[in-house]
Amino acid sequence: MRKFIQRALEKLPKLNIEQITSLIDLLLREQERYEGVIDSLHEGVIVTDRSFRVMMINKAAYHMLPFAGGEHEYHTAWSVVTDKEVSRWLEKVLQEGTRVEDEEFYLESSETLKILSLSVIPLVRDRQVAGSIIQIRDITSRKKREAKYRRAENLASLTTLAAGVAHEIKNPLASIGIHLQLMRRDVEHKKCLPEDDLCSYLDVLEEEIERLNGIVVDFLFAVRPMDTRMKREDIHEVLKDLLEFIRYELEEHNIEVETHFKADFHKAEIDQKYLKQALLNIIKNAIGAMPDGGRLTVSTYINGGAFGIDITDTGTGISDEHMNKIFEPYFTTKDFGSGLGLTVVYKVIREHQGDIAISSTEGKGTTFTVLLPLPKGEHNLIEWEGTGEIHHSDSR
Ligand SMILES: Nc1ncnc2c1ncn2[C@@H]1O[C@H](COP(=O)(O)OP(=O)(O)OP(=O)(O)O)[C@@H](O)[C@H]1O
Ligand SMILES: [Mg+2]
Repeated sequence: MRKFIQRALEKLPKLNIEQITSLIDLLLREQERYEGVIDSLHEGVIVTDRSFRVMMINKAAYHMLPFAGGEHEYHTAWSVVTDKEVSRWLEKVLQEGTRVEDEEFYLESSETLKILSLSVIPLVRDRQVAGSIIQIRDITSRKKREAKYRRAENLASLTTLAAGVAHEIKNPLASIGIHLQLMRRDVEHKKCLPEDDLCSYLDVLEEEIERLNGIVVDFLFAVRPMDTRMKREDIHEVLKDLLEFIRYELEEHNIEVETHFKADFHKAEIDQKYLKQALLNIIKNAIGAMPDGGRLTVSTYINGGAFGIDITDTGTGISDEHMNKIFEPYFTTKDFGSGLGLTVVYKVIREHQGDIAISSTEGKGTTFTVLLPLPKGEHNLIEWEGTGEIHHSDSR
């Protein structure tokens, strides 16, 4: 059809009025067909020209976003959207000419909350930006489902954690009970308690109370909901910061560091503070597993839609028997370990919608693999090559 229209246009000066009318008619029908297709999409679509003026808005977009009354075509995209936050964001992103994926917006109306995910994709024609496509997805129900799932998961881990706390506090409580009994017996027998005896009883009581306090503090840290603030960050920079932060401790333990940052795309939505805490816990465990020194290797790579980080040590390794337990709250093989390090790691990685895997050989070492999701479709560039067709191409 496109070729036919192009040929007809070339011959336009030779066409009579009837032929021109039928050509325009054909073009109109062609446009209607495209509009019909775009209107039937579930996704909202706004197409702008290179001056950010609206060329087209489909039906779904009208359902999802609040629009000003009156004409929309040929007005800038941000001026026709009445939600202030979305409008401000569109103005910034469109003028910067950047590609942004899956920015979330919470639109509150009187009785409902709508969560939208907006992406802005430059429309490239003959290697030049010819305009932009704004994609809008309603992710309200997906978000609600995820929150429900996380709540259920939290509840389940809370139960294990509560069982762990109950078990942990038993020992100090028993010890306090015994020492109080001893004090009572001494007072009843001797009618008084020598200062030395009293002090040693009080020391024990103080120590046990300190232990109880430690258990409660750790417990609260593990169960407190995380106020994660996700931002697009360069993970290689995060890893470099972290290795710099822990450099002296590694040197002190005679541990060499090797890095293989092989991921050619290394940005992801993360909460830097929490992710650093999680990776630090893994590295600290690696240090703990190499009491006589060794090598710590940190590698990154892209694996399908995920960003992979491998943290490998040449330490003691983990036995099969322990492997099933290491993520359990309070499981530790160390004299002064809380056993909550990996519980926190798991929680943080889950919060990032990521995954964690371990491979270990006793006597040789362990690799902790953290997989973080990459922004969706990050390496797809929608290119419009002047043929009028819009198709996806892999730009990498
Ligand atoms: N890289 C590793 N090599 C060998 N064993 C490990 C490694 N990482 C974890 N472990 C085992 O898993 C257990 C649990 O780890 P976790 O970080 O949860 O607690 P912890 O290190 O014992 O205590 P904390 O982190 O509070 O200091 C450790 O005690 C250790 O036995
Ligand atoms: Mg630890």
